[in-house]
Amino acid sequence: MKQTKVVIAVGARPNFMKSAPLLNELDKFPVFKPILVHTGQHYDSSMSASFFEELKLPEPDIYLGVGSGTHAEQTGKIMVRVEKVLIKEKPDLVIVVGDVNSTIACALVASKLGIPVAHVEAGLRSFDRTMPEEINRLLTDQISDLLFTTCEDANRNLKREGIPESKIFFVGNVMIDSLMHHMEVAEKSTILHKLGLRIGDSLREYAVLTMHRPSNVDDRGVLRGILNVLLDFSRKIPVIFPTHPRTLKRMREFKLNKMVKYRRSFNSAHLDTPDNNMIVIPPLGYLDFLSLMSHAALVLTDSGGIQEETTILGIPCLTLRNNTERPITVREGTNVVVGNDPQIIKKAVGEALEGHVPQRKRPKLWDGRAAARIVKVLRKKFN
Ligand code: UD1
Repeated sequence: MKQTKVVIAVGARPNFMKSAPLLNELDKFPVFKPILVHTGQHYDSSMSASFFEELKLPEPDIYLGVGSGTHAEQTGKIMVRVEKVLIKEKPDLVIVVGDVNSTIACALVASKLGIPVAHVEAGLRSFDRTMPEEINRLLTDQISDLLFTTCEDANRNLKREGIPESKIFFVGNVMIDSLMHHMEVAEKSTILHKLGLRIGDSLREYAVLTMHRPSNVDDRGVLRGILNVLLDFSRKIPVIFPTHPRTLKRMREFKLNKMVKYRRSFNSAHLDTPDNNMIVIPPLGYLDFLSLMSHAALVLTDSGGIQEETTILGIPCLTLRNNTERPITVREGTNVVVGNDPQIIKKAVGEALEGHVPQRKRPKLWDGRAAARIVKVLRKKFN
């Protein structure tokens, strides 16, 4: 039997939960030979290895170890290193996911080597070209041969950009496949106890904050404004803030780390300190974060994936950006786009806690079967 060699390229934290269901599904069909390539864009254990463990991803077959750098340095390094791998391995297909620098870098190299490229999570558009991810999305979609989308908005965006309909497949959301698959085991996480949010059967009301976008964390005034308003809010209910390394680095650089207390290790004693209840902790693993998010009164974030996850979990989400490439989470889910103006955030937080954020419906095909649909398409094309 001639096997179809499929390189799955991953690099940054949000890629891991999107590729796990794909690998599982490909493994069901011996005709596919998956090769997992990790660019090393994210390398800290808390940003990468812990996700491999919890998602039961196999060790990468090839690790490129590119690390951090400017956009050009990072993208360029990935391209040079992945080109060698693709020339050697000669895969029949390269699958890229999401919108990070690893996505565009691997897609571009594969496409120039004449290797078909499949883009999972194609067609999302914020229409904000100041976001590096928007550039990555636009360019990856232009050079991809198979475009797998999470929603009908994405299909429309792609068609408007001239992508032939025959290349576009509306399959649902692989990130939600992962969420649904792991919810039960996430319920066993002890993170709520560790943080003092659950004592016995009683659960304390709390909010979760995540932010790492350059537009929120690379400008001292903006970052300080957001932290101030949420510090104030944390006097009402605790705000748990797992920090991305970029954010922590900036808080230290801007000397804002004194405003909040960073807890490398944490326990319930840290709640109810007299000054405020913002608990700043290292990035959490996948299961702990799912557990934390799924019991929160409110989530504030600038992440893309969390807007989708809160929609499925029915948890109110305030997005600290001026736009979203995932408008379906606003139309059909629990997401409200509020930007980063402290006064507007303050008002939105008040409204959300009064129950003004609607819970509507589960977006079409966000049902845990997206990876199966993708692999069905691949079997038709390649076997
Ligand atoms: C990247 C993605 C972003 C995604 C985010 C998820 C791009 C352009 N951006 O942003 O879309 O939402 O990942 O987390 O691809 N760092 C560490 N340890 C790590 C990784 C990064 O300390 O394991 C620090 C470094 O200082 C690095 C900085 O974080 O310079 C930024 O990392 P980078 O991968 O460039 O971008 P992210 O902000 O993580």
